[in-house]
Amino acid sequence: MRLKVVLLGEGRVGKTSILFRYIRNEFQEKQQSTLQASYMDKTVEVGGTKASLSVWDTAGQERFHALGPIYYRDADGALLVYDITDGDSFVKVKKWTKELRKIVGPDISICIAGNKIDLERNRQVNEKEVLEYAKSVGASHFYTSAKQNLGLEECFKELAGKMIKR
Ligand code: GTP
Repeated sequence: MRLKVVLLGEGRVGKTSILFRYIRNEFQEKQQSTLQASYMDKTVEVGGTKASLSVWDTAGQERFHALGPIYYRDADGALLVYDITDGDSFVKVKKWTKELRKIVGPDISICIAGNKIDLERNRQVNEKEVLEYAKSVGASHFYTSAKQNLGLEECFKELAGKMIKR
């Protein structure tokens, strides 16, 4: 089974870093902004079912927003990423959720990742608000750190499981 996942979120929240850490176990402090979308594959096994995930990284800067549909139109699932130290980046997650549900439909599996959890001391996004929001839209929520390799396996496993069950 081949499943397509699209990474969406504001610029600099860590989408490329999540992809590199999850697939290659690499991390760069000076990761450059993405200008052109690309993808990487990884095989996952959930509950005895094997799936090949194509994980698409997209450009988060606002000027690229209109390209979103090209990548998410035929996606099975989306990982919506925000940075826990940046309140605006969570507002953007809400926008993506609305857009996905409206254009792709209620069927697309969504997980939300609160990235940069290694910077907990600088947290701006209220935990309770996020968890309530995720629940209200039927999305799972995970805290992740691409830097310290936290939460990523769990997050992609959950998303793969949701997509397989669809
Ligand atoms: P765009 O390509 O602009 O959409 O950005 P992006 O969301 O792909 O973010 P990117 O992966 O380029 O990371 C932005 C910056 O955040 C880089 O300097 C990364 O090193 C840093 N970064 C990414 N993930 C983490 C993390 O978990 N913790 C910390 N402390 N820094 C991180």
